[in-house]
Amino acid sequence: MNILLTGGAGYIGSHTYCELIDKNHNVIILDNFSNSEKTVLKQLELIVKKPVEYIEGDILDFSLLKKTLSKYKVEAVIHFAGLKAVGESVNEPLRYYENNVAGTINLLKALDAAKVYKFVFSSSATVYGTPEYLPIDEEHPLNAINPYGRTKLQIETILKDFSCSNFDMKIAILRYFNPSGAHHSGLIGENPKGVPNNLVPYMMQVANHQLPFLKIYGDNYQTPDGSGIRDYIHVTDLALGHVKALHFLNSTQTPINIFNLGTGKGSSVLEVIQAFNKACGVSIPFKVEGKRDGDVAVCYAKNERAKKVLNWQPVFSLEDMIKSAWKFQQKNKIS
Ligand code: NAD
Ligand code: UFG
Repeated sequence: MNILLTGGAGYIGSHTYCELIDKNHNVIILDNFSNSEKTVLKQLELIVKKPVEYIEGDILDFSLLKKTLSKYKVEAVIHFAGLKAVGESVNEPLRYYENNVAGTINLLKALDAAKVYKFVFSSSATVYGTPEYLPIDEEHPLNAINPYGRTKLQIETILKDFSCSNFDMKIAILRYFNPSGAHHSGLIGENPKGVPNNLVPYMMQVANHQLPFLKIYGDNYQTPDGSGIRDYIHVTDLALGHVKALHFLNSTQTPINIFNLGTGKGSSVLEVIQAFNKACGVSIPFKVEGKRDGDVAVCYAKNERAKKVLNWQPVFSLEDMIKSAWKFQQKNKIS
């Protein structure tokens, strides 16, 4: 299949690229490199051992999208491109709505014009807001609590409406839990610009002595050890979920297909620190701080639907995630 990856140079997109090439798909990346480096493309070439086709461009550029879809005879789009920092979205909501929501509308218009009927969207567990019950299944009420989350929720609504007006369209909405880890080669991984917001990349920089200590945001949650619990999923398992979702769209008649992509198992911040210690032999200095605004105590997925319908199964452990993230950090001496 000829597949366009918007945001394909980013963290999840680059890992998905590798898995799609592995399944002999023709893949083209479109990215504006606002949150990624072009060096990723060279790393991808080392992994897949062939030239990477890419376009430097923006999903807000309608004529570029139209040209790209037609030139590469694109049959399916996986839409990763988006801004994703929760705090930044609070300070710059219009930038988030424009990039994420207007960008997606633009992309859908181009798909409509080019008659591209398969679309996979990167959504997030953030659309569920504060969990009302656990594990969180796909029917859980939706209630995003920050502008970033609301862009994802709005896009989901737009996709549902769009699918009602275009009967050929087959859409998968993938709600990721906490993607972590890196490619087994150590050549690509999570490399956020500036000080990381997320636990695992922050921890890697502490282990690498770039940051002095990890701040644990709260140790008096109603959890066994008091620290927050999340569903960390290896980025390669996540990438394989996209391949399965795309193949599923070839056979389904259902217009909208929503799947949680998580392991179904929660780990606390302290357990992640211990796993790092065990897997890599490095201890992480930490200090307990107050709770971070907007954080929930516990969040993990019910992933039965993806397992059953997509025939997908996450295989990597928390230790695998941590080890691979550390390998990437060391190999690339990120500073
Ligand atoms: P990322 O920032 O590493 O990758 C996104 C890529 O999109 C970047 O390469 C960026 O340069 C590109 N991009 C952004 N706006 C663009 C635009 N207007 N035009 C073209 N390219 C653009 O992020 P990621 O972690 O790989 O996330 C991918 C998607 O998954 C995002 O939509 C994100 O919201 C979603 N998601 C991520 C997480 C996570 O924890 N990483 C969790 C849930 C959902
Ligand atoms: N945490 C710390 N210290 C840190 C960073 C995080 O203690 O320096 C804690 C948080 O309080 C939380 C856990 O580690 O308990 C995970 O936090 P992350 O920031 O890594 O991830 P979040 O669950 O807050 O959010 C992530 C993405 C969101 C996405 C969500 C989906 O950042 O975009 O997962 O579940 F929506």
